Amino acid sequence: MLVHAITSDLNYEFASDVRAGLTRTGQKELPSKYFYDDVGSTLFEVISHLPEYGLTRADERLLRRHASEIVERLAMPVAVAELGSGSGKKSRWVLEALCRKQRTFYYPVEISRSALAMCERELRDIDSISILGFEREYLDGLLEVAAHRKYGQHLLVLFLGSTIGNFDRAAGVRFLIEVRRILEPGDSLLLGTDLEKPSAQVLAAYDDELGVTAAFNLNLLARVNRELDADFDLGQFSHMARINPGARSVEMHLRSRRRQRVNIPGADLQVEFLEGETIWTESSHKYSTEEIFEMARNAGFRCAAQWIDEEWPFAENLLIAE
Ligand code: AVI
Repeated sequence: MLVHAITSDLNYEFASDVRAGLTRTGQKELPSKYFYDDVGSTLFEVISHLPEYGLTRADERLLRRHASEIVERLAMPVAVAELGSGSGKKSRWVLEALCRKQRTFYYPVEISRSALAMCERELRDIDSISILGFEREYLDGLLEVAAHRKYGQHLLVLFLGSTIGNFDRAAGVRFLIEVRRILEPGDSLLLGTDLEKPSAQVLAAYDDELGVTAAFNLNLLARVNRELDADFDLGQFSHMARINPGARSVEMHLRSRRRQRVNIPGADLQVEFLEGETIWTESSHKYSTEEIFEMARNAGFRCAAQWIDEEWPFAENLLIAE
Protein backbone atom coordinates (compact mmCIF):
# COMPACT_ATOMS: atom_id res chain seq x y z
CA MET A 1 0.00 0.00 0.00
CA LEU A 2 1.21 3.46 -0.91
CA VAL A 3 0.12 6.33 1.31
CA HIS A 4 1.27 9.82 0.57
CA ALA A 5 -0.26 13.24 1.23
CA ILE A 6 0.53 16.23 -0.94
CA THR A 7 -0.01 19.37 1.09
CA SER A 8 -0.44 23.03 0.31
CA ASP A 9 -1.00 26.16 2.35
CA LEU A 10 -4.60 27.37 2.00
CA ASN A 11 -4.40 29.75 4.98
CA TYR A 12 -3.82 33.01 3.12
CA GLU A 13 -7.27 32.66 1.49
CA PHE A 14 -9.05 32.42 4.83
CA ALA A 15 -8.31 36.00 5.90
CA SER A 16 -9.40 37.48 2.57
CA ASP A 17 -12.61 35.39 2.46
CA VAL A 18 -13.47 36.41 6.04
CA ARG A 19 -12.84 40.03 5.14
CA ALA A 20 -14.92 39.85 1.96
CA GLY A 21 -17.80 38.02 3.67
CA LEU A 22 -18.07 40.27 6.71
CA THR A 23 -17.76 43.57 4.82
CA ARG A 24 -20.46 42.78 2.25
CA THR A 25 -23.33 45.25 2.08
CA GLY A 26 -26.53 43.55 3.18
CA GLN A 27 -26.27 39.95 4.39
CA LYS A 28 -22.92 39.13 6.02
CA GLU A 29 -21.60 35.68 5.19
CA LEU A 30 -18.79 33.21 5.81
CA PRO A 31 -18.16 30.37 3.33
CA SER A 32 -19.20 26.95 4.61
CA LYS A 33 -15.98 25.33 3.37
CA TYR A 34 -14.27 26.83 6.44
CA PHE A 35 -16.33 24.64 8.81
CA TYR A 36 -13.89 21.81 8.26
CA ASP A 37 -10.83 22.45 10.39
CA ASP A 38 -9.84 19.69 12.85
CA VAL A 39 -12.60 20.60 15.35
CA GLY A 40 -15.25 21.12 12.64
CA SER A 41 -14.44 17.85 10.85
CA THR A 42 -14.74 15.99 14.16
CA LEU A 43 -18.06 17.72 14.94
CA PHE A 44 -19.37 16.84 11.47
CA GLU A 45 -18.45 13.21 12.14
CA VAL A 46 -20.59 13.41 15.32
CA ILE A 47 -23.47 15.06 13.39
CA SER A 48 -23.50 12.06 11.05
CA HIS A 49 -24.41 9.85 14.05
CA LEU A 50 -27.24 12.06 15.34
CA PRO A 51 -30.75 10.57 15.18
CA GLU A 52 -32.09 13.76 13.55
CA TYR A 53 -29.48 13.76 10.75
CA GLY A 54 -30.32 10.73 8.62
CA LEU A 55 -28.45 11.94 5.53
CA THR A 56 -25.10 10.21 6.08
CA ARG A 57 -26.66 6.91 7.16
CA ALA A 58 -28.90 6.92 4.06
CA ASP A 59 -25.86 7.55 1.87
CA GLU A 60 -23.99 4.71 3.59
CA ARG A 61 -26.91 2.27 3.32
CA LEU A 62 -27.21 2.89 -0.42
CA LEU A 63 -23.47 2.50 -1.00
CA ARG A 64 -23.30 -0.69 1.06
CA ARG A 65 -26.37 -2.23 -0.56
CA HIS A 66 -25.52 -1.34 -4.17
CA ALA A 67 -21.70 -1.37 -4.22
CA SER A 68 -21.42 -4.45 -6.49
CA GLU A 69 -24.05 -3.14 -8.88
CA ILE A 70 -22.32 0.24 -9.06
CA VAL A 71 -18.98 -1.41 -9.81
CA GLU A 72 -20.54 -3.69 -12.47
CA ARG A 73 -21.63 -0.57 -14.37
CA LEU A 74 -18.15 1.00 -14.53
CA ALA A 75 -15.75 0.92 -17.47
CA MET A 76 -12.54 -0.85 -16.30
CA PRO A 77 -9.76 -0.43 -15.36
CA VAL A 78 -10.72 2.47 -13.16
CA ALA A 79 -9.07 4.72 -10.58
CA VAL A 80 -11.17 6.48 -7.94
CA ALA A 81 -11.04 10.15 -6.94
CA GLU A 82 -13.16 11.28 -4.02
CA LEU A 83 -14.02 14.96 -3.63
CA GLY A 84 -14.33 15.70 0.09
CA SER A 85 -13.61 12.21 1.38
CA GLY A 86 -14.17 13.10 5.04
CA SER A 87 -13.38 10.04 7.13
CA GLY A 88 -13.63 7.84 4.01
CA LYS A 89 -15.98 5.43 5.83
CA LYS A 90 -18.75 5.68 3.22
CA SER A 91 -16.43 4.77 0.35
CA ARG A 92 -15.31 1.45 1.82
CA TRP A 93 -17.91 -0.74 0.11
CA VAL A 94 -17.37 0.60 -3.40
CA LEU A 95 -13.59 0.41 -2.92
CA GLU A 96 -13.79 -3.15 -1.57
CA ALA A 97 -16.00 -4.22 -4.49
CA LEU A 98 -13.50 -2.64 -6.92
CA CYS A 99 -10.47 -4.12 -5.19
CA ARG A 100 -11.96 -7.60 -5.63
CA LYS A 101 -11.65 -7.00 -9.38
CA GLN A 102 -8.45 -4.96 -9.78
CA ARG A 103 -5.68 -3.21 -7.89
CA THR A 104 -7.28 0.19 -7.19
CA PHE A 105 -5.75 3.63 -6.88
CA TYR A 106 -7.83 5.81 -4.55
CA TYR A 107 -7.22 9.56 -4.48
CA PRO A 108 -9.08 11.38 -1.67
CA VAL A 109 -9.19 15.15 -2.23
CA GLU A 110 -9.73 17.16 0.96
CA ILE A 111 -9.02 20.61 2.34
CA SER A 112 -8.93 19.17 5.86
CA ARG A 113 -5.61 17.55 6.71
CA SER A 114 -7.12 15.75 9.71
CA ALA A 115 -9.90 14.29 7.53
CA LEU A 116 -7.28 13.03 5.06
CA ALA A 117 -5.39 11.36 7.89
CA MET A 118 -8.65 9.84 9.24
CA CYS A 119 -9.51 8.58 5.76
CA GLU A 120 -6.14 6.92 5.28
CA ARG A 121 -6.42 5.16 8.68
CA GLU A 122 -9.96 4.04 7.88
CA LEU A 123 -9.23 2.45 4.50
CA ARG A 124 -5.62 1.27 4.53
CA ASP A 125 -6.58 -2.28 5.54
CA ILE A 126 -8.36 -2.95 2.20
CA ASP A 127 -6.43 -5.48 0.10
CA SER A 128 -5.09 -4.20 -3.24
CA ILE A 129 -5.64 -0.52 -2.53
CA SER A 130 -3.13 2.31 -3.02
CA ILE A 131 -4.07 5.61 -1.40
CA LEU A 132 -2.66 8.96 -2.42
CA GLY A 133 -4.27 11.93 -0.67
CA PHE A 134 -4.40 15.47 -2.04
CA GLU A 135 -4.83 18.36 0.38
CA ARG A 136 -6.50 20.55 -2.20
CA GLU A 137 -9.72 22.27 -3.24
CA TYR A 138 -11.94 19.86 -5.19
CA LEU A 139 -11.23 20.90 -8.77
CA ASP A 140 -7.51 21.54 -8.22
CA GLY A 141 -7.24 18.09 -6.68
CA LEU A 142 -9.21 16.45 -9.46
CA LEU A 143 -6.96 18.07 -12.07
CA GLU A 144 -3.94 16.56 -10.34
CA VAL A 145 -5.61 13.16 -10.15
CA ALA A 146 -6.40 13.34 -13.88
CA ALA A 147 -2.72 14.11 -14.51
CA HIS A 148 -1.84 10.80 -12.74
CA ARG A 149 -4.19 8.85 -15.03
CA LYS A 150 -2.54 5.95 -16.85
CA TYR A 151 -3.21 5.20 -20.52
CA GLY A 152 -6.57 3.42 -20.94
CA GLN A 153 -7.55 3.98 -17.31
CA HIS A 154 -11.00 5.39 -16.52
CA LEU A 155 -11.88 7.59 -13.58
CA LEU A 156 -14.70 7.20 -11.10
CA VAL A 157 -15.30 10.42 -9.15
CA LEU A 158 -17.13 10.10 -5.83
CA PHE A 159 -19.00 13.21 -4.70
CA LEU A 160 -21.04 11.83 -1.85
CA GLY A 161 -23.00 13.08 1.15
CA SER A 162 -24.95 15.69 -0.85
CA THR A 163 -22.04 18.11 -0.64
CA ILE A 164 -23.31 19.42 -3.99
CA GLY A 165 -26.27 20.76 -1.98
CA ASN A 166 -23.96 23.29 -0.35
CA PHE A 167 -23.70 25.07 -3.72
CA ASP A 168 -26.73 26.99 -4.94
CA ARG A 169 -28.47 25.20 -7.83
CA ALA A 170 -26.82 27.17 -10.64
CA ALA A 171 -23.37 26.89 -9.03
CA GLY A 172 -23.97 23.15 -8.56
CA VAL A 173 -24.47 22.68 -12.30
CA ARG A 174 -21.45 24.89 -13.03
CA PHE A 175 -19.41 22.70 -10.70
CA LEU A 176 -20.59 19.53 -12.50
CA ILE A 177 -19.63 21.14 -15.83
CA GLU A 178 -16.12 21.79 -14.45
CA VAL A 179 -15.86 18.19 -13.26
CA ARG A 180 -17.04 16.96 -16.68
CA ARG A 181 -14.35 19.09 -18.40
CA ILE A 182 -11.66 17.23 -16.50
CA LEU A 183 -13.14 13.80 -17.31
CA GLU A 184 -13.08 11.73 -20.51
CA PRO A 185 -16.18 10.19 -22.14
CA GLY A 186 -17.04 6.96 -20.35
CA ASP A 187 -15.67 8.17 -16.98
CA SER A 188 -18.22 8.30 -14.20
CA LEU A 189 -19.38 10.40 -11.28
CA LEU A 190 -21.22 8.89 -8.33
CA LEU A 191 -23.24 11.77 -6.92
CA GLY A 192 -25.08 11.68 -3.57
CA THR A 193 -28.07 14.03 -3.29
CA ASP A 194 -30.35 14.66 -0.34
CA LEU A 195 -33.99 14.76 -1.49
CA GLU A 196 -36.85 17.06 -0.52
CA LYS A 197 -38.67 16.11 2.67
CA PRO A 198 -41.02 17.76 5.19
CA SER A 199 -39.71 21.06 6.61
CA ALA A 200 -39.91 19.88 10.23
CA GLN A 201 -37.66 16.92 9.45
CA VAL A 202 -35.15 19.15 7.64
CA LEU A 203 -35.12 21.74 10.44
CA ALA A 204 -34.54 19.11 13.12
CA ALA A 205 -31.61 17.74 11.09
CA TYR A 206 -29.94 21.18 11.12
CA ASP A 207 -30.86 22.16 14.68
CA ASP A 208 -30.48 19.00 16.75
CA GLU A 209 -31.47 18.69 20.38
CA LEU A 210 -27.96 18.06 21.67
CA GLY A 211 -26.68 21.23 20.06
CA VAL A 212 -23.94 19.53 18.04
CA THR A 213 -24.91 21.40 14.85
CA ALA A 214 -24.94 24.63 16.87
CA ALA A 215 -21.38 23.88 18.02
CA PHE A 216 -20.39 23.00 14.42
CA ASN A 217 -21.74 26.36 13.26
CA LEU A 218 -20.22 28.39 16.14
CA ASN A 219 -16.86 26.71 15.58
CA LEU A 220 -16.56 28.89 12.50
CA LEU A 221 -16.26 31.93 14.78
CA ALA A 222 -13.96 30.01 17.11
CA ARG A 223 -11.79 29.25 14.07
CA VAL A 224 -11.64 32.94 13.18
CA ASN A 225 -10.56 33.60 16.78
CA ARG A 226 -7.88 30.89 16.65
CA GLU A 227 -6.45 31.58 13.22
CA LEU A 228 -7.01 35.31 12.77
CA ASP A 229 -6.63 36.34 16.41
CA ALA A 230 -10.20 37.69 16.55
CA ASP A 231 -12.25 38.34 19.69
CA PHE A 232 -15.67 36.89 18.82
CA ASP A 233 -17.53 36.23 22.09
CA LEU A 234 -19.22 32.91 21.21
CA GLY A 235 -21.76 33.40 23.97
CA GLN A 236 -23.05 36.45 22.13
CA PHE A 237 -23.97 34.55 18.95
CA SER A 238 -26.61 31.86 18.56
CA HIS A 239 -27.13 29.13 15.97
CA MET A 240 -30.16 29.45 13.72
CA ALA A 241 -31.53 27.12 11.03
CA ARG A 242 -34.32 28.22 8.69
CA ILE A 243 -36.03 26.93 5.58
CA ASN A 244 -35.71 28.95 2.39
CA PRO A 245 -38.78 27.69 0.48
CA GLY A 246 -37.92 29.56 -2.75
CA ALA A 247 -34.46 28.04 -2.93
CA ARG A 248 -35.68 24.66 -1.58
CA SER A 249 -32.85 24.79 0.94
CA VAL A 250 -32.18 24.97 4.64
CA GLU A 251 -29.91 27.84 5.72
CA MET A 252 -27.70 28.09 8.77
CA HIS A 253 -26.93 31.45 10.31
CA LEU A 254 -25.12 32.83 13.37
CA ARG A 255 -27.28 35.48 15.02
CA SER A 256 -25.81 38.32 17.05
CA ARG A 257 -27.53 38.42 20.47
CA ARG A 258 -26.73 42.12 20.90
CA ARG A 259 -25.19 45.11 19.22
CA GLN A 260 -21.44 44.48 19.28
CA ARG A 261 -18.09 45.15 17.65
CA VAL A 262 -15.60 42.39 16.84
CA ASN A 263 -11.88 42.82 16.10
CA ILE A 264 -10.24 40.52 13.57
CA PRO A 265 -6.58 41.64 13.40
CA GLY A 266 -5.57 38.74 11.12
CA ALA A 267 -7.96 40.10 8.49
CA ASP A 268 -7.17 43.73 9.32
CA LEU A 269 -10.81 44.25 10.19
CA GLN A 270 -13.30 45.55 12.77
CA VAL A 271 -16.91 44.52 12.25
CA GLU A 272 -20.09 45.96 13.79
CA PHE A 273 -23.11 43.74 14.40
CA LEU A 274 -26.64 44.93 15.13
CA GLU A 275 -28.77 43.00 17.61
CA GLY A 276 -30.43 40.19 15.64
CA GLU A 277 -28.15 40.57 12.61
CA THR A 278 -26.96 37.27 11.16
CA ILE A 279 -23.96 35.81 9.39
CA TRP A 280 -25.15 33.33 6.74
CA THR A 281 -22.83 30.33 7.00
CA GLU A 282 -24.39 27.56 4.90
CA SER A 283 -27.20 26.56 2.56
CA SER A 284 -28.07 22.95 2.01
CA HIS A 285 -30.25 22.42 -1.06
CA LYS A 286 -32.66 19.53 -1.37
CA TYR A 287 -33.51 17.92 -4.71
CA SER A 288 -36.28 16.15 -6.56
CA THR A 289 -35.32 12.86 -8.22
CA GLU A 290 -36.20 14.20 -11.69
CA GLU A 291 -34.11 17.35 -11.50
CA ILE A 292 -30.96 15.28 -10.98
CA PHE A 293 -31.41 13.78 -14.49
CA GLU A 294 -31.72 17.29 -15.89
CA MET A 295 -28.70 18.60 -13.95
CA ALA A 296 -26.67 15.66 -15.28
CA ARG A 297 -27.74 16.38 -18.89
CA ASN A 298 -26.98 20.08 -18.54
CA ALA A 299 -23.47 19.24 -17.40
CA GLY A 300 -22.64 16.72 -20.15
CA PHE A 301 -23.45 13.53 -18.24
CA ARG A 302 -26.10 10.83 -18.56
CA CYS A 303 -27.71 9.61 -15.34
CA ALA A 304 -27.37 5.86 -15.90
CA ALA A 305 -28.81 4.73 -12.57
CA GLN A 306 -30.42 6.17 -9.46
CA TRP A 307 -30.87 4.38 -6.13
CA ILE A 308 -33.18 5.84 -3.47
CA ASP A 309 -33.10 5.07 0.24
CA GLU A 310 -36.31 3.77 1.78
CA GLU A 311 -35.86 5.31 5.24
CA TRP A 312 -34.52 8.79 4.50
CA PRO A 313 -35.22 10.45 1.13
CA PHE A 314 -31.75 10.42 -0.44
CA ALA A 315 -30.54 9.40 -3.91
CA GLU A 316 -27.26 7.92 -5.13
CA ASN A 317 -26.87 8.78 -8.82
CA LEU A 318 -24.43 7.21 -11.27
CA LEU A 319 -23.57 9.77 -13.95
CA ILE A 320 -21.61 8.77 -17.05
CA ALA A 321 -19.60 11.39 -18.96
CA GLU A 322 -20.84 11.63 -22.56
C1 AVI B 1 -21.49 18.44 4.13
N1 AVI B 1 -22.87 18.89 3.96
C2 AVI B 1 -23.52 18.13 2.89
C3 AVI B 1 -23.65 18.90 5.21
C4 AVI B 1 -25.12 19.33 4.91
O1 AVI B 1 -26.00 18.60 5.33
O2 AVI B 1 -25.31 20.32 4.21
C5 AVI B 1 -23.04 19.84 6.22
C6 AVI B 1 -23.90 20.04 7.43
N2 AVI B 1 -24.33 21.18 7.87
C7 AVI B 1 -25.05 21.01 8.94
N3 AVI B 1 -25.14 19.73 9.20
C8 AVI B 1 -24.40 19.10 8.27
